[in-house]
Amino acid sequence: MTATLLVLNGPNLNLLGHRDPAQYGSTTLVDIEKAVRSRAEQHGMDVDFRQSNYEGELVSWIQEARTSAAGVVINPAAYTHTSVAIRDALEILDCPVVEVHLSNIHAREEFRHHSYVSAVATGVIAGLGAHGYLLAVAAFAALKATKSA
Ligand code: DQA
Repeated sequence: MTATLLVLNGPNLNLLGHRDPAQYGSTTLVDIEKAVRSRAEQHGMDVDFRQSNYEGELVSWIQEARTSAAGVVINPAAYTHTSVAIRDALEILDCPVVEVHLSNIHAREEFRHHSYVSAVATGVIAGLGAHGYLLAVAAFAALKATKSA
């Protein structure tokens, strides 16, 4: 069975490309989705790519991942710094979770330095722009290869 990678994006990431390009670049979320799909395909993985501006919707999708995903990539956006609910939902998962941020949250305003998600993530990638999503795909491919070796 082909492994499915669930890629979740939090609030305002639907506006990538228009939103603060100095911070987030000119790549749109649709561009990122295409790049992630093609990289995952090279590794024989399916991608379920989603974005929501609603915390509860993200929580429900994370819960669904318990039975449908082999791994979760999540850019929780602003919920990174506020959401115990997203953190708790991720903690319940048995599959690996990679937290991704386009910007280096540690080099920005102090309120962005703390992530509720990092403590329950398998790994964290920040500050490498859209490339961070592709690194997350590569990380899952490596984890998958280790598991099946
Ligand atoms: C972000 C960083 C968050 O602090 C911010 O609220 C976002 C995007 C990033 O990808 O760099 O919306 O998660």
